[in-house]
Amino acid sequence: MTAKIIDGKEIAQQIRGELATEIQHLKTRGIVPGLGVILVGEDPASRSYVTAKEKACHEIGIYSNDNRLPATTTQAELLALIAAMNANPKINGILVQLPLPKHLNESEVLLAIDPDKDVDGFHPLNVGRMVVGEKAFLPCTPHGVLQMMARSGVKIEGAHAVIVGRSNIVGKPLANLLMAKGKMANATVTVCHTKTKDIGHYTRQADIVIAAAGRPNTVTADMIKDGAVVIDVGVNRVEDASKKAGFRLVGDVDFDACKQKASLITPVPGGVGPMTITMLLYNTVESAKRANGL
Ligand code: GUN
Repeated sequence: MTAKIIDGKEIAQQIRGELATEIQHLKTRGIVPGLGVILVGEDPASRSYVTAKEKACHEIGIYSNDNRLPATTTQAELLALIAAMNANPKINGILVQLPLPKHLNESEVLLAIDPDKDVDGFHPLNVGRMVVGEKAFLPCTPHGVLQMMARSGVKIEGAHAVIVGRSNIVGKPLANLLMAKGKMANATVTVCHTKTKDIGHYTRQADIVIAAAGRPNTVTADMIKDGAVVIDVGVNRVEDASKKAGFRLVGDVDFDACKQKASLITPVPGGVGPMTITMLLYNTVESAKRANGL
């Protein structure tokens, strides 16, 4: 079997188009959704993610308040900026790009963000709301994965989904969302991680394999069953002298080999990445609507 490619760029464009129309309507009522973006330090991958997020905001009409802070920024300075954004009515969403430099306390920073502006869905209050099935901002990458599966006709209900990776940003929330009662959910979920004895033993039983381990070639063709849906959340830079930048991006999945066995597969780049940014835009628009009682 040769897999059909799930085109994340195309699905993201579709949703961004829907959002742009909604933003135009909001503007006629004097509402301009705003996102406060904070990047601390010079990490090249974080810089490129943040630039892509800011560009996406501009393209669909979201006001973005961009803050690039030096790596020497103190905890107090960062907390003061967050407090100012919490109080600023023009800002409906606050995004602090992770990871932060080591000297900063990430949990304290996430707790400082007003949960009603937490468009990343990382505040413990929103994490708790999501786990018990209450209305919450859903974390962008897991939400993007669900949207791309739903819009590609993947049947999630009753499927066995195996997630490889247990991060707070992807693996854990995705497991919760997939096992929840409701639309784009009702799956049976297994989570594998670095201490799992034989990851292939689990992934071979999966109807849906989601790789979010942060390591190239974590999922190889012998680890998936014929016709499985394979979603690759990984974004890894591997050295490549033939590229101008000196590297190329690969996911966690051996794409070329798995493509021969899967029914549907996401590429890297052009798969989950554009969806993550799109769900951030979606949450920012949602937040602006809620702030205005809509
Ligand atoms: N770092 C990697 N992914 C994310 C994300 O979705 N949001 C933030 N804030 N930082 C990240």
